[in-house]
Amino acid sequence: MFDEPAIHRRLDDIAAQISRDYREKELTVIAVLHGSLMFVADLLRRIPLPLKLECLSVTSYHGRAQTSGEVTFRQIAIPDAVGRDVLILDDILDSGFTLGAVRETLETVKPRSIRTCVLLSKRKQRGRQIDTDYVGFEIEDEFVVGYGLDFRGRYRNLPYIGVLRKELLERPDK
Ligand code: IMP
Ligand code: MG
Repeated sequence: MFDEPAIHRRLDDIAAQISRDYREKELTVIAVLHGSLMFVADLLRRIPLPLKLECLSVTSYHGRAQTSGEVTFRQIAIPDAVGRDVLILDDILDSGFTLGAVRETLETVKPRSIRTCVLLSKRKQRGRQIDTDYVGFEIEDEFVVGYGLDFRGRYRNLPYIGVLRKELLERPDK
């Protein structure tokens, strides 16, 4: 779907936009792991601003290719973001439950501002309505892997983003 040069070209654009928007500010980036790992690493190196990085780890899949809608935080401590300009980075916006839960949780620590940035956004009816401020690519409602995105923990190390073959989606877990 997107090879490495195409991803990097798009990251140049988003990074330039973010760098303009936060020129006079100090960003606190909150990365939603594990899926956003490659995206965050490549994007942040293109943003020449002072910033802090915090990571969150959440899961909602529980081994399936469909979200369960129940978002579990893997750590107890919420990143310190009081009075800060927060930018949440996630790999992909699907049902909206993950980004919704992360945003809601961060709002409880009273940041000055919160924006969201996703590499991919699926064109579909969402379980939860979410406004995104920066989107890398809009895609159809298909299950994609690579460049950090996984299926049952695999394929994250592919340098490109591709659609997972349907027969793999249906195969029992092992
Ligand atoms: P949501 O809560 O349904 O919006 O899903 C968001 C999370 O589910 C993302 O952070 C991904 O980790 C995962 N996800 C959603 N769609 C895909 C996909 O097509 N491939 C791989 N992971 C996905
Ligand atoms: Mg994820």
